[in-house]
Amino acid sequence: MSNGYLQGKTAIVTGAGSGMGKAIAKLFVEQGANVAIADLNREAAERVAAELSTNRARAFGTDVTSDASVASMVKGTLETFNRIDVLINCAGVPQVFTPIEELSEVQWDRILAVNTKSIFLTARHVVPFMKAQKNGSIVNIASIAGIRARPGLNAYCASKGAAIILTKALALELAPYKIRVNAINPGPAETPMIGQFLKGNETEVEEDKKKIFLNSVPLGSLIQPEDIAQAALYLASDLAKMVTGEILNVDGGRGI
Ligand SMILES: NC(=O)c1ccc[n+]([C@@H]2O[C@H](COP(=O)([O-])OP(=O)(O)OC[C@H]3O[C@@H](n4cnc5c(N)ncnc54)[C@H](O)[C@@H]3O)[C@@H](O)[C@H]2O)c1
Repeated sequence: MSNGYLQGKTAIVTGAGSGMGKAIAKLFVEQGANVAIADLNREAAERVAAELSTNRARAFGTDVTSDASVASMVKGTLETFNRIDVLINCAGVPQVFTPIEELSEVQWDRILAVNTKSIFLTARHVVPFMKAQKNGSIVNIASIAGIRARPGLNAYCASKGAAIILTKALALELAPYKIRVNAINPGPAETPMIGQFLKGNETEVEEDKKKIFLNSVPLGSLIQPEDIAQAALYLASDLAKMVTGEILNVDGGRGI
């Protein structure tokens, strides 16, 4: 892919300290964007910014479940880069397979807060600037689990299903302001998160990864973070200027 699809644009990427968010931040910088690398793990965000070794990346220690923390990150992004064109909501937490009656209220609330409420909180701070610009692109990283349920993934499926319908609701609401809102549904992906869905020691987790996740992907391999980054680049850039409310499965066929 040639360079420069995001030249002159500024993107906020949440959860950019690891996995898909990190790959998105890297590709976006390569494509000319200024990038705010926002992650609960401030050290990881700073490591990613240092690896990118550019003055077009700035790290933020941000908790996407906290209104004040999101507000401060958005303010810092504007102070540094003057504008916000793209918001990628990638921060997320997994769920260990848990029968519904064993799931605690605290676990439920945490999963819904990080995976769903975060989209509300980031949107409420970023949308006013996008409205003023009459331009913007929001991409929510949901999951194939948001449309294809699995036993024991109750809260996670609910959080991602909500993220998908929220994407569509915002796409309609914000279309008059030329703000596009789309989602990506990754399938099982090779990131630190995937092992966290499973119980057991390292060998058991590796076995289960193959059995449960790999075997459920028709194309026969786990999704790489870079696969998600390419899709995010398309949706974030003007390549997709007439695409909104779309849910793009990047899942090796898992959702069929
Ligand atoms: N890995 C998979 O198999 C898979 C599949 C489908 C969807 N997803 C989704 O993709 C997204 C990225 O996941 P990943 O696989 O790259 O995971 P990852 O664990 O590598 O990265 C997630 C990042 O989110 C950050 N984070 C967690 N809570 C946060 C909070 N409150 N505030 C800010 N940052 C926070 C973590 O610190 C971490 O850096 C998530 O939304 C996840 O649900 C992952």
